[in-house]
Amino acid sequence: MENEVFVGLDIGTTKVACIIAEPDENNLLRIIGVGVSPSDGLRKGTVVNIDRTVNSIKKAVEEAELMAGVDVNSVWVGIAGDHIRGKNGNGPVAIARENPEITQEDIDRAIGMAKATQFPPDCELLHVIPQGYSVDDQKKTDNPLGMRGVKLEAEVHIITGQSTVIQDIKTCVEKAGLRLIKLVFEPLASSNAVLNKDEKELGVALIDIGGGTTDIAVYTEEHIRYIAAVGVGGKNVTNDIAIGLRTPLEKAEEVKRKYGNAYQPLLRGENERFMVPAVGGNEDREVGREVLVGIIEPRVEEILTLALREIKKSGYQQMLGAGVVLTGGGALMEGAREKAEEVFQMPVKIGIPGRFSGLTEAVKSPIHATGIGLCMFAAESRREVSEPRPGVKGDSLLGKIVTWIKKYL
Ligand SMILES: Nc1ncnc2c1ncn2[C@@H]1O[C@H](COP(=O)(O)OP(=O)(O)OP(=O)(O)O)[C@@H](O)[C@H]1O
Ligand SMILES: [Mg+2]
Repeated sequence: MENEVFVGLDIGTTKVACIIAEPDENNLLRIIGVGVSPSDGLRKGTVVNIDRTVNSIKKAVEEAELMAGVDVNSVWVGIAGDHIRGKNGNGPVAIARENPEITQEDIDRAIGMAKATQFPPDCELLHVIPQGYSVDDQKKTDNPLGMRGVKLEAEVHIITGQSTVIQDIKTCVEKAGLRLIKLVFEPLASSNAVLNKDEKELGVALIDIGGGTTDIAVYTEEHIRYIAAVGVGGKNVTNDIAIGLRTPLEKAEEVKRKYGNAYQPLLRGENERFMVPAVGGNEDREVGREVLVGIIEPRVEEILTLALREIKKSGYQQMLGAGVVLTGGGALMEGAREKAEEVFQMPVKIGIPGRFSGLTEAVKSPIHATGIGLCMFAAESRREVSEPRPGVKGDSLLGKIVTWIKKYL
């Protein structure tokens, strides 16, 4: 039955992935269906061809449905691209009554006020994420419930996207015969799948290097502080290879995955050679890995430097105790981690989604961080609706992210 499964639909620039999950006996997610279909109807996170995008969605969903043996009706969908904006907002409210104990209603009022913060008219609200509260301009707290004061102020992070881009994604999902439950900014979903609470507490920057966009989310003290997206990704690396080696895009993608490396010192002087077909009927040529690194490394460095610029802009660069986590397909590039350590001058790890059962091998890749994270969002919202349930609290993953997810919806 559909209401027992959670479906994440990651509409990416290079692939659409549909992941179907259900809760297992340990309150973790069990992945029961995965469908991936190449996507060519988007550019840098924006739909440029509705029909092609609808087809990719349908194919990915059908494949996942077949594997899981369920019909999918409603989906949680990812959204990304440099049209997304993050902004901090404040919502002050007065507690003007005899009993000045702060109630849930006051908290909701403060969030409501903060939500009303101005954003451009061509933008739509995607997330309102509480960051903390102050009571009477002093006491800072994560949960003011029951405290006494005459003024409560909520601090929130507001994430918006361009209305037209959002509408096009909604149209594609609808035309594919699906009901869109919620749009989630992709790095929020990815962080859900690959970051743990300690990393968020210590301070961490998540960088999701996709095909067309690289998305950044900065966390400190468990809260999201800054988001950004830059319109460069793995596709640019492939283009550079195609131009540099004068070879078709398809072949460029193949050699990138097979022989590519983003950090020269890792080759240790070895220069394995391989053949590449030329465009326009010219003869195949032999190329060494040294040449390939020479093309890839500057582009990866550019992507990482743009991400670093965003992290600096966030003002939290010195507070990232847990360093940087790279995810998305671009994180699979050999040498990406080493190159990133050089650029960021801090520890870097590759974020691979974990902590679930079922078809683990099919989705244990940075490519699926967004899809898995969307399923986690879905699972938590369901949990919210049916709370309280025995056995949810404590150490279970779903139990742990209950509080987290509350902050994001
Ligand atoms: N083994 C690999 N080595 C290097 N790059 C890889 C490898 N596997 C995949 N990639 C690259 O990862 C990118 C796709 O990543 P991902 O699936 O995360 O993107 P997407 O979600 O489709 O795009 P976006 O998030 O930008 O909309 C492609 O550019 C692809 O070339
Ligand atoms: Mg992606």
